[in-house]
Amino acid sequence: MYRMRSSSLIIWSFCFFMQSSAQSTAQPMNELIRDQFLFAAQQLQVLGKNVPDSLMPRTFNPKTGAMVTSDTKWWCSGFFPASLLYVYEHTKDSAVLSIAKKRLAIQEKEKHYTGNHDLGFMIFNPFGNAYRILGNPEYRNTIDTAALSLVTRYRELIQSIQSWNSNKTFSCPVIIDNMMNLELLLYVSQQGANPQFREIALKHANTTIRNHYRNNYSAFHVLDYDLLKGTFVGKNHQGYNDGSTWARGQAWGLYGFVMVYRYTQDKKYLDFARNIASFLLDHPRMPQNLIPYWDFDAPNIPNALRDASAAAILSSAFLELSLYTDRKEKERYIRSAETIIRGLASAEYRTELGQNGGFLIKHGVGHLPANSEVDQPLTYGDYYFLESLHRYQEWVVNGQGFLNAKRP
Ligand code: GLY
Repeated sequence: MYRMRSSSLIIWSFCFFMQSSAQSTAQPMNELIRDQFLFAAQQLQVLGKNVPDSLMPRTFNPKTGAMVTSDTKWWCSGFFPASLLYVYEHTKDSAVLSIAKKRLAIQEKEKHYTGNHDLGFMIFNPFGNAYRILGNPEYRNTIDTAALSLVTRYRELIQSIQSWNSNKTFSCPVIIDNMMNLELLLYVSQQGANPQFREIALKHANTTIRNHYRNNYSAFHVLDYDLLKGTFVGKNHQGYNDGSTWARGQAWGLYGFVMVYRYTQDKKYLDFARNIASFLLDHPRMPQNLIPYWDFDAPNIPNALRDASAAAILSSAFLELSLYTDRKEKERYIRSAETIIRGLASAEYRTELGQNGGFLIKHGVGHLPANSEVDQPLTYGDYYFLESLHRYQEWVVNGQGFLNAKRP
């Protein structure tokens, strides 16, 4: 029988003691979540005051102090109202709700937008939350109309939804982020509307599995299709180079496949998501706090910038994955999400009241090769951080995990 040598036993006991005492001194998650939502209620009001009512926040440059806004057609325009609604749900702060309603009112017209694939982010995130929390049937109508707009971009030859219009660089680009927008179609179908929306979403997801991923479960950012021949080339427009692993793209893909499993209960999508999760969590260049470098192949790792937005998306996805898995694997996803949430809530990443233009989370990387939104806050970083808090509270603290979930 194996006997632990007494010196090893002492070291092991010491490590266990250190780990337990570190855990017991950390703020309990339910308190951390409550504090983060109370902070967000104050801070997002600052953001609301800093941005005219007719516009949406986009980012803030901490070096120059410049606030950057967008119109309602920008792909991220829905995240501010969607974030406010999570915060309202957890704080019942009526001032927060009032800002959310004003921003929903200016966003609503984009349900007719057909200029790109981002209707999920632009309409489903804010109006999905609004309908779930406030129950106004008008919000449902807005979501249904947006689904009709999104399917205009479906291209049967390539069994995919075209992400961006053709331009100087791309012919028919389909990006991994598009997995996120499928939820709009799956949700509307599930609610009893057009079953074709679901078919289109699943064709897109299946094409993504077939074409977008490398053998190691890393994804390209963009596949550029030839709409006459159906052929494609893989590119990494926002990543380091075409062979690299752009962090946020991996996060979109993981989140997307877990979400598709929620709507289908088809194990194929769950297993695919689990493989992506293993690739990421076991990656030799994944940092210990699980806040990834902006690209896993950035040449200056370990000095490369981290992308807090990718981490926030990952933690939300890990939490959902924990609902559909057991024992050690489930535990791993919950612990990973907790690690990320604690990291993002720490002083290194979470801003102070009144700072950072009113955004919550620092150190996002939008589009580094274009030198755009680099090491700055991003509306989607804030949104998926809040969603992670929400999910952790509902599923881990309150233990209301579920299959066949209504949208969380
Ligand atoms: N293209 C969306 C993103 O930057 O993640």
